[in-house]
Amino acid sequence: MDATAIILAAGEGTRMKSNHCKVSHKILGKPMVQWIVDATIKAGCSRVVVVIGSHADEMRALIDGAYASSATKVECVEQTERLGTGHAVKVALEACGITEGPVVVLNGDLPLITADTVAKFAQTVATGELACTVMTMTPPDPFGYGRIKLGADGQIERIIEQKDCTPEQAATLLECNAGCYAFDGAQLAAHINEIGNDNAQSEYYLPDMLEILKSHGQAVSIFHCDDYRDGLGVNSRIQLAQLTAIARDRINEHWMAEGVTFIDPTQAWIGPDAVIGRDTVVWPQTHLIGHVTVGEECQLGPNSRLTDTTVGSGCTIDETIAIEAVIENGVDCGPRAYLRPGTHMLDGSKAGTHVEIKKSTIGEGSKVPHLSYIGDTTMGPGVNVGAGSITSNVKSDKTHVVVTDGAERIDTGRKKVGAMLGDGVEVGCNSVLNPGSVIGRGSRVYPLSSVRGTVPAASIYKRSGDIAAQR
Ligand code: UD1
Ligand code: CA
Repeated sequence: MDATAIILAAGEGTRMKSNHCKVSHKILGKPMVQWIVDATIKAGCSRVVVVIGSHADEMRALIDGAYASSATKVECVEQTERLGTGHAVKVALEACGITEGPVVVLNGDLPLITADTVAKFAQTVATGELACTVMTMTPPDPFGYGRIKLGADGQIERIIEQKDCTPEQAATLLECNAGCYAFDGAQLAAHINEIGNDNAQSEYYLPDMLEILKSHGQAVSIFHCDDYRDGLGVNSRIQLAQLTAIARDRINEHWMAEGVTFIDPTQAWIGPDAVIGRDTVVWPQTHLIGHVTVGEECQLGPNSRLTDTTVGSGCTIDETIAIEAVIENGVDCGPRAYLRPGTHMLDGSKAGTHVEIKKSTIGEGSKVPHLSYIGDTTMGPGVNVGAGSITSNVKSDKTHVVVTDGAERIDTGRKKVGAMLGDGVEVGCNSVLNPGSVIGRGSRVYPLSSVRGTVPAASIYKRSGDIAAQR
């Protein structure tokens, strides 16, 4: 769809009382502005322009970080002086040379708007009959919103900001401007300079465009949201929490409809980019943040937080924190496991109680059941690491080459070096596996050992450092 989206995100967000830009505040782990950018991309907009200003560096980093490799171009335009929403749009039009085509303008604090609504909106101005469509809603508490004033003909006459309303208008005009507009770009560009700032806030109000377009004989229209919640804005922390609860309920209801059980849907925080398979049970205090995929028949939680992590089917994730980890099928995690970036748990493996794993592969059916730290380590299948055993993975200057059972690893430069454990290795409890240690397939390590160097396959490593053949 050849529509441009302009997202207004330059405001100070004074009512948030924050050191950060308002629209960078997160709802279910995702910055508000990204909810809106994603909705416009999903709606098929060909170009997305984000107007930034307050905390511009923070905002630019946020947008670039999220969309640098996006197929749809998402660009930032800086509004150096915040003179109002009308001025913000003018800055965007001029900076991007936008003079035609459907232009959808969205407030950056409107996170629950859906891609469907954006797409439908862009369509309303595509034929050229309408110069502008405004999204409206009738919330239970209209305080703070611009109010829709209808003319004698029942058509929209203009929008009156809360601060410019007479007490009577504030009490009787209950339909509100949601802060999403579709414009015929040619009409918008032709008349944007006509917006004035003669109002209570001395700001250039974008909603004034309606009256201006009408005065030029253009047709404008309103689109009333059946569900007012789609159009709610966030100006304060209270509204941030209210919208978070709405988003949470909607997402959890979606997954329940797809066959996921929630023990208490008010106590699980599933981000908009998470996917959960059927017959998975979500226990209270579960957080799925970012791109998380969970398969079928899993037990998630209680008290678990997964960030940018993939979980297969049939897993138990009990009191576990996982960040950028890959967990395959039938894996058992926790209670109280901490899986840090680069952890790869293969089928049927286990990371048990008070176990921390980083940048390591735990082989098929391998178990790290109790009180261990495993870092920068590769484990074959069927390994068992005894309680309290750890890898000591200090930084090493050495170029490190190990060959065992046909496996070769070359580590160069100053990087952390862990251990390599061959298939079926058993490590006795309270052992330390020193950097670069390699334990060949089928070997056993006595409890309380400090392992260095290479332990040949099928041997026994004694606490003294002696190595005996197993058979
Ligand atoms: C605005 C609307 C109001 C509507 C409400 C819906 C105006 C004048 N009023 O009021 O009719 O009911 O949204 O939530 O538009 N911004 C800029 N540059 C600026 C000023 C604002 O980019 O110079 C951005 C803000 O970051 C924000 C958005 O525009 O994301 C809306 O501004 P905000 O101050 O929140 O407007 P409201 O008072 O909520
Ligand atoms: Ca607002």
